[in-house]
Amino acid sequence: MARTSLLQGLTVLLLAWALVHCQAPLEPQEEEEEDDPMEETEIETFLVPAVAKVEPVVCPGECSCTEEGAVDCAGVDLMDFPSELSESTRILSLQNNRIELLTVEDLARLQQLETLNLQNNRLTTQGLEDEGFTVLEQLTYLYLANNKLTTAPRHLPPSLVSADFAANSLTKIYPYTFGQKPGLKSVYLHNNKLTDAGLPENMFNGSDSLEVLIMSSNFLRYVPRNLPSALYRLHLKNNMLEKIPSGVFDSLTQLRELYLQNNLLSNEGMDNETFSQLTKLEYLDLSNNNLSVVPQGLPRGLILLHLEKNNIRSIPGDALIACRNLEYLLLHNNQLRSRSIHQAAFHGLKKLHTLHMYNNQLERVPRGLPRRAKTLMLLHNGINEIGRNDLVMLYTLTELNLSYNRLISPKLHREAFRKLRLLETLDLSGNALHSLPLGLPRSLQVLRVKDNQLTSIPEGALQGMSKLREIHLNHNQLKLNSIYQGAWMELRALTTLDLSSNQLSHVPSDLPESLEYLYLQSNRISTVPATAFEGTPNIKGIFLRFNRLSAHSVKENSFKHLTNLRVLDIGHMSHSDPSGSLGPPSGQEEEEEEEIEIEEVGEGFA
Ligand SMILES: *[C@@H]1O[C@H](CO)[C@@H](O)[C@H](O)[C@H]1NC(C)=O
Ligand SMILES: *[C@@H]1O[C@H](CO)[C@@H](O)[C@H](O)[C@H]1NC(C)=O
Ligand SMILES: *[C@@H]1O[C@H](CO)[C@@H](O)[C@H](O)[C@H]1NC(C)=O
Ligand SMILES: *[C@@H]1O[C@H](CO)[C@@H](O)[C@H](O)[C@H]1NC(C)=O
Repeated sequence: MARTSLLQGLTVLLLAWALVHCQAPLEPQEEEEEDDPMEETEIETFLVPAVAKVEPVVCPGECSCTEEGAVDCAGVDLMDFPSELSESTRILSLQNNRIELLTVEDLARLQQLETLNLQNNRLTTQGLEDEGFTVLEQLTYLYLANNKLTTAPRHLPPSLVSADFAANSLTKIYPYTFGQKPGLKSVYLHNNKLTDAGLPENMFNGSDSLEVLIMSSNFLRYVPRNLPSALYRLHLKNNMLEKIPSGVFDSLTQLRELYLQNNLLSNEGMDNETFSQLTKLEYLDLSNNNLSVVPQGLPRGLILLHLEKNNIRSIPGDALIACRNLEYLLLHNNQLRSRSIHQAAFHGLKKLHTLHMYNNQLERVPRGLPRRAKTLMLLHNGINEIGRNDLVMLYTLTELNLSYNRLISPKLHREAFRKLRLLETLDLSGNALHSLPLGLPRSLQVLRVKDNQLTSIPEGALQGMSKLREIHLNHNQLKLNSIYQGAWMELRALTTLDLSSNQLSHVPSDLPESLEYLYLQSNRISTVPATAFEGTPNIKGIFLRFNRLSAHSVKENSFKHLTNLRVLDIGHMSHSDPSGSLGPPSGQEEEEEEEIEIEEVGEGFA
């Protein structure tokens, strides 16, 4: 405890030093989109350590003050603005109190004030005298987030560099609230109640340095016009945007990050030149809107493009063609069909490594996928066939997720995977395969084929997979005699084997030495012979719950030598005698079933 607070003290001291000596610009919540009233981490920068050696001239009770003019009254339950502040106060921390009223008189004496933090108080528009702030000719940082303001102050001083009004109930901004501030760099207005009518015609007139504008979570229907051309971050998510007026982004040649997600934008609300002048744009988020086509005229510099959760049905051949730097393309949760993706849609996207297309309506792997893709998420579609050449261009693919499609074994070409020599992870779960595909890449490290209808693992299907660490085959219909003998033995790197919820009647006898976790729960295993785990000295977990084991059919010796064993889950023993004695199993019917299974095994290994 003591050490922690000492460390905190030192950190704060260091920050205070930086503040005073380096004039480090402060950008609270620059990354922090949602405004949490309790979020104090950044704001603590202004706190002044109680441990500092100070002899302030005047310092209100409950506050702490430094020689450098920093006064800290944060979180001391103040109801009123402190009255005895020194005229030399430069940094005033009043956040997390219950202040309701701020008058011109309160502020008039504080001519040196540079930073005023009133975050998380109870200030209302009525309680904030309109001329209050104009007297503060040095004011650079003003923090008023988490108050109860309904309209913004009419005038803020021209010296302002950063203003935070997030999480109030603002409905109106005035021309001189943020206008005519040549040094203004960042404005935070998210979580308010702003509508288009509440904004002045030219909100940042004469404030040409603005770089960061956060207006997310308001009620805007149009993107504001006349934004300063220095802007590099513009957040407008969670509004009601329907339209991006023509040319509204044209002057924003410095913009790098544009958030437009969770709005009502449709293709009709923009045109083919809406984004075309944003030459520095790297990050564009249009997810959760009402687009039906990938928009035209996307800027060349894009690295990350979010288009998920729209209504996108097609990708034209020339929509993405300019985006040569694109690395991530997120198209999941749309209505894409394979044939409505133009064959040249991804042409030339040489940097694109991550493509998410899950939750669409693809019937086939789309043609012309980006050649350098590393991660391809195609799960939850309707893919029912993979032809010989569908994956042939994807030389660099390391992760392929085809789970929850409609693949059946006869429609999965046995040479379909032949070129995927770098593939490490393959997921085919949730399809309708009845046999483990042949011709899977030897490079695989993780293979998931759970939730299918597998009844067989044909000879050689796992041959040469010396890197395979995990194989998940749970929830299938596998029996021991339908798995070729020696299948597991050759998997020299295998640590996890999941065969739970199948129809196995015995513990497999050919387990590899590397095995650490063996999942066999919910099968039909009735005995565990003493030799079952002789070949697996490294095993850490064995799961045998929900089988047909009885106390006498499990040999205690089976586990004795397993020095690494941490979990042995035998759980439920369906045959066990309620008295707990080691008597023979009682149910006549079940005994018969058991015999049938043993016969099957006999056939398989005969
Ligand atoms: C912008 O400010 C200039 C003065 O710098 C003024 O002449 C002009 O009328 C203002 N425009 C708007 C739309 O407020
Ligand atoms: C946008 O579309 C119009 C016609 O609809 C066309 O004249 C113009 O050249 C297009 N601009 C671009 C950049 O494709
Ligand atoms: C989505 O866009 C279509 C036109 O593309 C329009 O008919 C529909 O009303 C829009 N839906 C919403 C919720 O705005
Ligand atoms: C495939 O995607 C699903 C859903 O996101 C995920 O649960 C699964 O782990 C993925 N498969 C692999 C092998 O990563």
